[in-house]
Amino acid sequence: MKKTLAILLAALMLIGMFSFASAEAKTYKVGVSIYQFTDNFMTLYRNEIENYFKTLETDDVKYEITMADGKNDMAEQTNQVRNFITQGMDVIILNLVQTSSADAVIDEIVAAGIPLVLINREPLGDNGDYSYAGILDNPQVCYVGADARQSGTFQGEMVAELDNHGDINGDGKVSYIMIEGDPENIDAQYRTEFSVKALTDAGIEVECLDDQVGNWDQTKGQELCANALTSYGDAVEVVFCNNDAMALGAATAITTAGRKVGEDIYLLGVDALEEAVQLVKDGEMTGTVLNDHIGQSHAAVDAAVKLLNGEEVENYYIIDYVKVNKAYVDAQ
Ligand code: GAL
Repeated sequence: MKKTLAILLAALMLIGMFSFASAEAKTYKVGVSIYQFTDNFMTLYRNEIENYFKTLETDDVKYEITMADGKNDMAEQTNQVRNFITQGMDVIILNLVQTSSADAVIDEIVAAGIPLVLINREPLGDNGDYSYAGILDNPQVCYVGADARQSGTFQGEMVAELDNHGDINGDGKVSYIMIEGDPENIDAQYRTEFSVKALTDAGIEVECLDDQVGNWDQTKGQELCANALTSYGDAVEVVFCNNDAMALGAATAITTAGRKVGEDIYLLGVDALEEAVQLVKDGEMTGTVLNDHIGQSHAAVDAAVKLLNGEEVENYYIIDYVKVNKAYVDAQ
């Protein structure tokens, strides 16, 4: 009798422990807002955020992710953030539509006591990069991104490293067109500036034939490049695009105009989208720059998890770019 009782008691304790353990299992609610779902690069990025969160799940910890499309509309994104707050998100990951609205959004999220990881679009502080007060002053807020100056520099260097340094017609200067991303975005500003700076730093003379805004968009990139090729013809030696989506469009325009990359024109992008890397391999693009969406999304999720666990985070996490020219691709 005593034995039966002891067994019963032990069984009851086990059940108790079990239910205690399962009561401990926690589902964290994660709100993610991306500036625009149709953006090629940010699509890779957001998919990897979801994939990576899944790999971190255990029997005790789950992540319920709500992914919102900011539709390139700051008012829309502000509403999404407010909904996240009402829904009681445990952490928010935010790819701002407009960095000029960073303060307003950060204030609301911080006031609600929700930790925040800003990604991809860096709001600049009074002292430029890595000095945004809303990030430095709030231990619950951090930024994950890459230094766009580096990507621009790599683009210019890939031209400077060519045998003719980009001067196809031998007139002593490199004549280029620039196709820019969203001009409010620091990535676009830095890539535009630093790609050309890498050439002039190498002692190469440059001439800007055309500088237009393609808003990161493939169709727009194609249209702008086609127009520039019509207007400036053979004078165009280098086409700099602030990202690969626009460079893919430019590649189509270049082929349509009967021009040949590597022979009578050079073409550069940034992101290392799969299609662009293929074009580099095939010699139809001179180079691109790896914008490491895996490294960045993992760093963002790792930071979010730290914040959820009440651990300290850095203010800024900056992931390196990598130069992707034909030599690099062939060596892979
Ligand atoms: C850049 C990327 C672009 C675009 C932009 C959005 O880093 O190179 O393709 O995704 O972010 O902010």
